[in-house]
Amino acid sequence: MKISSDLSMKSIFSDRISDVPRSFIREILKVAVDPSVISFAGGLPNRKLFPIDEIKQATNRVFEEYGRDVLQYSKTEGFPELRRYISQRYLEKQNLDIPAENILITNGSQQGLDLLGKILLNKMDDVVIEEPGYLGAIQAFSVYRATFNPVPVSEVGMDIECLGKVMSKAAPKLIYTVPNFQNPSGISYSDANRLAVADMVRNTNTLLIEDDPYGDLRFEGVGKKSFKQLIPENTVLLGSFSKTVVPAFRLGWIVAPDGIMEKLVIAKQAADLHTNNFAQCVIYRYIKDNDFDEHIKKIVTVYSSQRNAMIKSIGRYFPPEIMYTKPEGGMFLWATLPPETSSMKLFEGAIRDKVAFVPGHPFYVNRKEVNTFRLNFSCVDEETIRIGISRLGQAIKDQLAA
Ligand SMILES: Cc1ncc(COP(=O)(O)O)c(C=O)c1O
Repeated sequence: MKISSDLSMKSIFSDRISDVPRSFIREILKVAVDPSVISFAGGLPNRKLFPIDEIKQATNRVFEEYGRDVLQYSKTEGFPELRRYISQRYLEKQNLDIPAENILITNGSQQGLDLLGKILLNKMDDVVIEEPGYLGAIQAFSVYRATFNPVPVSEVGMDIECLGKVMSKAAPKLIYTVPNFQNPSGISYSDANRLAVADMVRNTNTLLIEDDPYGDLRFEGVGKKSFKQLIPENTVLLGSFSKTVVPAFRLGWIVAPDGIMEKLVIAKQAADLHTNNFAQCVIYRYIKDNDFDEHIKKIVTVYSSQRNAMIKSIGRYFPPEIMYTKPEGGMFLWATLPPETSSMKLFEGAIRDKVAFVPGHPFYVNRKEVNTFRLNFSCVDEETIRIGISRLGQAIKDQLAA
């Protein structure tokens, strides 16, 4: 078979992949690499906070301690000490009793989403997705040809009335949530909202995915009850070291009830046998030999100052009609332009003014033009935030005046 043109290529691909778009953010980041552009578009942790020296030391210790065995094939479920550590941390931090046997180490929490799609979704199965929602989840479940049921989220969490309608109409297999400092909006679900969602899911066959890569990055306020605490039987909890240590190791985990765990292990074996054993050992040594909470505190201090700088500059430079969220943690905030104002058009103007962000439409499953956009504050220092937001404020004023 000759595979040369786009046309012949198309014919060999599965239906599963044909309809899944490329990540729009990856496309946008190509525009934002110009060094004269101030970019609030990325979603990356701040590289200056990577604990390089400590990771070097941990790597050496891993070789000293485990020798050649660290380079061998290993268990699908993950490095036992690391699983036990995660279990212990849930107990200490959240009073959650999770046996290590119910933790599967994955290749980032992104793989958790793919594995859950693989074991649970048939074509056209109903999935509830937050609106706006995490693009990587939309992409992961699109591969399994899910039918998306968007439920709006606001500063307090999910729109309960809308969720109720979807639950009674569709009996969804999955509800996907990011209840702490959501990507893209930065919002967190209130206690009351969590209880209301939990009440709706309890005693149904719907599984709720609680994706929590940002939960440790809290700047203010108090931690809320997790869905895993409220509805343990119906919840699959995802965690990640990407935002608290480094993303390059691709280390995350799934906490799942027994029956689901069994299927996940089969899917994981079929996908990649196991997660990188070397990286698991290094991260485990790093965490054991250093003060992990102190490191997280450092990240929180930097991100919270950067969030403050962004909010202060927005107050100063954006027209007053622009609405925006004030996240209590995480890496993002979400802005809303007046109705009928296109954030994609704003993006074009902003790039000319040398500032980038992510227009809102990729975070919705069925909209092409929206008036919302995402701003990332983790990677840009405070003075650069001020300059970037002043440029963006001008671009907004120009668009509103046009
Ligand atoms: C909500 C959410 N879930 C999952 C991920 C994927 O994280 P990981 O690096 O653990 O695969 C991200 C990454 O940005 C995210 O924002």
